[in-house]
Amino acid sequence: MRELRIGVIGSGGRGGLARHAHQPDGGARVVACCDVRPEALAKNREWYGPEVFTTDDYRKLVTQGLDAVFVCSPDFLHEEHALAALERGLAVYLEKPMTITIEGCDRVLKKAREKRARLFVGQNMRYMNVIRKMKQLVRDGAIGEVKSVWCRHFISYGGDAYFRDWHSERRCSTGLLLQKAAHDLDVMHWLADAYTTRVAAFGNLAVYDKLPRRAPDDKGDPAFNVSHWPPLLQSGFSPTIDVEDQSVVIMTMEKGILGAYLQCHFAPDACRNYTVIGTAGRIENFGDMPDSPIFLWNKRTDSYRMVGDAVFRGDNGAGGGHGGADPVIVQEFLDFVRDGIKTTATPEAARMSVAAGYQATMSLRNGGQPLDIPPLPA
Ligand SMILES: NC(=O)c1ccc[n+]([C@@H]2O[C@H](COP(=O)([O-])OP(=O)(O)OC[C@H]3O[C@@H](n4cnc5c(N)ncnc54)[C@H](O)[C@@H]3O)[C@@H](O)[C@H]2O)c1
Repeated sequence: MRELRIGVIGSGGRGGLARHAHQPDGGARVVACCDVRPEALAKNREWYGPEVFTTDDYRKLVTQGLDAVFVCSPDFLHEEHALAALERGLAVYLEKPMTITIEGCDRVLKKAREKRARLFVGQNMRYMNVIRKMKQLVRDGAIGEVKSVWCRHFISYGGDAYFRDWHSERRCSTGLLLQKAAHDLDVMHWLADAYTTRVAAFGNLAVYDKLPRRAPDDKGDPAFNVSHWPPLLQSGFSPTIDVEDQSVVIMTMEKGILGAYLQCHFAPDACRNYTVIGTAGRIENFGDMPDSPIFLWNKRTDSYRMVGDAVFRGDNGAGGGHGGADPVIVQEFLDFVRDGIKTTATPEAARMSVAAGYQATMSLRNGGQPLDIPPLPA
């Protein structure tokens, strides 16, 4: 088996994900890294060895005789970086969200098709143990035919991760209903086996635009810090904050399914809580760690029962980033690059999660006007 030669664009930060792909004894090696921060490239040399090619220019990276490229740069660069790699026919692992506009996603899909290049989008929540188990329960008919999908997303680290750097600006992220919710909307689509067709949303900036900002030339520090509590006593926020910190979306989906999505960036705890209701029961996860429980209620009682009629947990207790997802998704990408296997995450689904998040953002900025989701181009 020939060794896969892998490059990483945006090789600091989330680019560390590519370490799972660096398998010198397993037929894959990270051989080239691109980042604009010299300290990130220094770290890359520690991880991958002094011989790894390093550059601050992605155009130089894509000429290094690669088989595949991880694009882990900030969202507003995804389109440019993915197109450069796809143009050369390279396989691409593109971090979520696919891009920050619907048109941008469609340009990336079109380029991959034109060049017959293997495109994969890092919707890693589909690989989380707890989510896979919920999908299995739905697929096995545990709740009958799905009719409603709801998600509440509580984010304790919102003030750290999303309001101190590029995430806080519309021009860089569109908004957090796209940047953050791309995951949740994709999971809702997957659990329901249906895409969103129409959305209406409300949202506002309730907290983070009211707090002390950093100077424009200070470097923002988006590192998570649990001592940053309560939100109203924090400081050091981005000079420009024009994305919402709480939002509520209602959705119609294919097959007559209804969805509801709620996101809050100043919650004390962090969790994604999904509920799926079908014609024969309801499931709900409590926590999104690898071993978090999922309750199934499938007997009628006319009062609230905190514990379901049955309790399930993800099958694979393996650790690893994001609820056990990261090593699994990277391995699937490598298998896809080598053998073109059918993958759990798909670029078409990633585009549909961006499309739903984008239209929801436009709706909330236009008084909650309902908007249709443009279907995938033929
Ligand atoms: N799937 C997940 O669970 C998950 C988790 C975290 C982040 N992400 C995604 O990963 C991406 C990166 O997020 P992050 O928090 O690491 O962002 P970040 O701001 O830390 O940027 C990532 C890296 O890209 C580098 N970079 C910036 N501009 C560049 C350029 N022009 N050329 C090359 N490198 C450049 C930065 O120096 C940094 O090392 C985002 O799209 C984010 O949505 C996904």
